[in-house]
Amino acid sequence: LTSAPPLQLAENYFKLYPRESDPIWGNPCDDVRHQKIWSKNKSCDSLPKFLVIGPQKTGTTALSTFLSLHPSIASNVPSPTTFEEIQFFNAQNYLRGLDWYMSFFPSDTNSLTRYFFEKSATYFDGELVPRRVHALLPYAKLITILISPAKRAYSWYQHTKAHRDNVANNFSFHQVITASDAATKDLRDLRNRCLNPGKYAQHLERWMSYFPQASIHIIDGDQLKSNPIEVMNELQKFLKITPFLNYTEHLRFDKRKGFFCQVKEGSTKCLGRNKGRQYPPMEERSLKYLQRYYLSHNTALVKLFNKNGIRLIPKWLKEDLSDQN
Ligand code: A3P
Repeated sequence: LTSAPPLQLAENYFKLYPRESDPIWGNPCDDVRHQKIWSKNKSCDSLPKFLVIGPQKTGTTALSTFLSLHPSIASNVPSPTTFEEIQFFNAQNYLRGLDWYMSFFPSDTNSLTRYFFEKSATYFDGELVPRRVHALLPYAKLITILISPAKRAYSWYQHTKAHRDNVANNFSFHQVITASDAATKDLRDLRNRCLNPGKYAQHLERWMSYFPQASIHIIDGDQLKSNPIEVMNELQKFLKITPFLNYTEHLRFDKRKGFFCQVKEGSTKCLGRNKGRQYPPMEERSLKYLQRYYLSHNTALVKLFNKNGIRLIPKWLKEDLSDQN
């Protein structure tokens, strides 16, 4: 009996099962046999209990900052290679494997920390993300924030402009969102990053095909801005976290910033200048264009909420749906 050399065998195998060439990491803690052969210094606690999945520009940084004020909650440890977000499940980082991911959640950092989480705002609309998250963290809770998709698109445009992105500097917001498929790749890419994450129903449906609705908590981003204390109270109930933190002692509205900020030694510590930016209001024609563009998506979102008994119908959603003239 002869066999091909290992490399050739592997090539043959992946030709037969092409889907399997894309790895999918399972959880070693879900199987005693796997756990038994695992190194002694690995711990099932070194994984997050919940994820803030985005989308970008909806207030995800404010939310994770507020969450980290809780004595039992900690975000992943920072890493020089990943900057602010780990972006494990959506990007090339996934190929770095499980040990790499787990190194962000050291189980011995602080015995008070019982709830690790990570926030990567691009998870929300990543095609492969729900499947990958479910394979590794099937019992994780997921938190998403929704604002008017039109405003989200505009905020993203302003964000790229502030980062001196060439396309954002050379094209107006209206030119970006109305760019056709014949436009240059750079322009189409920016258009897509402005528009695609805001197709909320389609992304949420993908998450819901892997996770039960009871594991997904949806926050109205406008409420996060105007009444974060209430949002944090609801969130603590959803996460079943103890002790219950009284956020009235930790968050205060800062008139200069125009947002709620963390109370630190009697004064307020707000997020940096790149969060809660000052920029001119969106042109009326862009707003109308986007409300029409998102009409079917927003209608699908209301249907999805109704179908799943989600009672949240945010004010922005009603407004986007009614201002159609
Ligand atoms: P703008 O800068 O366009 O106003 P993210 O952190 O997901 O990138 O979201 C950034 C957005 O968070 C900001 O967008 C801002 O409107 C919103 N936000 C919500 N609460 C905030 C807070 N307390 N401080 C600063 N920005 C906040």
